[in-house]
Amino acid sequence: MPRFDPLWFASPILVGLLALSGCGGQPSTDRQAAAETPAETPGPKVVPGTDLAGDLARAQAFLATRPEYEQPLGVGLKPPEGVQSSSAASCGRCHTQIYAEWKVSTHALAWKDRQFQAEGGKSGNRWLCVNCHTPMLSQHDQWPVGLQQDDVDLPILVQNPALDEGLRDEGITCVGCHVVDGVIHGPGLSNSHPPHEVVADPRFTDNRVCLRCHQAVATYPGKQYACTFATGTEWAAGPYAAAGKGCADCHMPRAEMPVAEDGPVRSVPRHWWRGAGIPKVAGIQPPLKANPPGLGLAATWTDAGVHVVATNAHAGHDLPTGDPERWVQIDVRYEDAKGQPVGTPGSERIGQTWKWYPVAEKVGDNRLAPRASRDWTVPLPDGAARAVVEASSHRMTQETADYHHLDGYPRFLVTHHLVVTPQGTTGGVVAK
Ligand code: HEC
Ligand code: HEC
Ligand code: HEC
Ligand code: HEC
Ligand code: HEC
Repeated sequence: MPRFDPLWFASPILVGLLALSGCGGQPSTDRQAAAETPAETPGPKVVPGTDLAGDLARAQAFLATRPEYEQPLGVGLKPPEGVQSSSAASCGRCHTQIYAEWKVSTHALAWKDRQFQAEGGKSGNRWLCVNCHTPMLSQHDQWPVGLQQDDVDLPILVQNPALDEGLRDEGITCVGCHVVDGVIHGPGLSNSHPPHEVVADPRFTDNRVCLRCHQAVATYPGKQYACTFATGTEWAAGPYAAAGKGCADCHMPRAEMPVAEDGPVRSVPRHWWRGAGIPKVAGIQPPLKANPPGLGLAATWTDAGVHVVATNAHAGHDLPTGDPERWVQIDVRYEDAKGQPVGTPGSERIGQTWKWYPVAEKVGDNRLAPRASRDWTVPLPDGAARAVVEASSHRMTQETADYHHLDGYPRFLVTHHLVVTPQGTTGGVVAK
């Protein structure tokens, strides 16, 4: 557990290390900002706790004054009614298949993720991050009970003596979504007799469970970070919302299987939540059938050059959505008859552009709205016999990976590979 180190927080390096994601900024290329931070920058303050119940009450009273996206989803100090443990593994004893799917999901890795650990472990606003990446208070090593100078970077914290490290490592675990006030909630199965209590809850079928974390937009005046997840409003403005197709319809496709061991076969929502499909740990990711790449890519040979059409064919929101650092890239390179490169490759980046210094600000956004297309032509160089068109989804730049010492961390996924000649186009989706 990272202990509060006053010297560390006083360090001028702090600004440079606020290299965060989503609710965050990026490493500064402008070292000036770091140099100007006064040496006595105050930091988070850890105060002595009293008793568990008193500290919990103080933390809850403070959190109740904060906006919803700054609040944890639950407490979780006791297992839910009717089960012995809160851990995903214990739910998995009966919900075997759902557990196996969750285990390879990004949600299960939201705490252990090397990028999250690199970005979220150190700075004063860490208490904000943990509310979405480990949504129960029992998963947090420290609880906020107030702010100094009304500044989110300067929380007053107490140690949580009841930290459940095993549950914390599970990130966005079953109880994070399914337990409200100590009782398991679900979509409401018909003719069901679970061994634990269940409340049928409409939030499971109308996106609310998802939007609690995936729709949060806040700028913090004067800060080099912002909270910027607008997947909910992007979806609401598009054609899928109008057609009644929600987050789970695409991200939790259904399969015929039992909900629990030895139970009846039902049409059960998969717990994979595949997004762009870039793994967090090489080799661990939901299969392609969980969700296709959002991009539809077409390319044809013309006299002027290769004509490329990129469409947001499958995503129910902007492509890409979520983290502002993500982008989709389409590269076109020409080869001569012998397969040697000719001409200058063309590269198109589809994503947001942010400036983090002196304050966080979005300066560009050329993402594709649902079903929108963009087309362009990459001029034909002399001697070109064919073109290779490759699309890829990216999580971060090499520069950001280097900055965080994320050697070997999967940064991108090649999604499409096309070969274009005057005779026609071959290839398609290559993502696994
Ligand atoms: C309001 C909820 C919320 C808060 C608060 C939050 N995050 Fe996240 N975070 C998300 C969601 C949702 C995603 C998934 C979006 C995506 O992958 O594009 C995410 C993704 C990430 C990722 C992975 C990005 C990627 O491209 O795979 C990192 C790293 C991360 N967050 C770090 C942080 C840090 C550090 C903080 C605190 C400064 C933080 N988050 C605060 C909701 C939140
Ligand atoms: C990110 C939130 C989230 C997490 C984490 C999560 N679930 Fe779910 N779960 C849902 C949603 C949403 C539904 C309903 C989806 C639908 O009906 O389309 C659901 C449905 C279910 C159902 C009902 C199945 C059915 O046929 O309707 C069970 C059982 C279940 N989840 C168990 C689990 C278990 C066990 C875990 C952990 C291994 C888990 N869930 C983790 C969001 C979550
Ligand atoms: C001892 C076995 C067992 C354990 C442990 C268990 N469940 Fe269940 N659960 C069941 C059974 C059986 C059903 C009903 C299945 C059916 O009707 O097809 C069920 C149903 C559910 C439902 C669907 C409720 C509805 O009507 O929408 C959810 C959600 C759920 N469980 C979540 C969990 C979570 C989360 C855990 C861990 C904290 C857990 N379960 C632990 C056996 C178990
Ligand atoms: C407790 C907050 C929380 C809830 C609730 C939640 N998510 Fe997430 N989700 C996250 C975070 C955080 C990440 C990113 C984790 C990381 O990258 O380490 C994420 C990642 C994802 C991804 C994967 C992105 C990728 O490319 O890997 C998808 C898809 C997703 N969530 C969809 C959903 C859906 C659908 C629901 C509702 C059923 C939901 N989420 C509920 C916080 C949440
Ligand atoms: C019509 C189907 C569809 C719907 C509806 C949908 N998504 Fe997606 N989503 C996708 C596809 C396809 C991708 C993969 C995009 C890509 O290739 O990067 C995706 C990607 C994501 C990602 C990862 C970031 C990215 O762009 O790759 C997150 C997070 C996410 N979706 C969350 C949500 C949430 C939350 C909702 C509900 C508000 C939702 N999605 C509704 C199809 C859908």
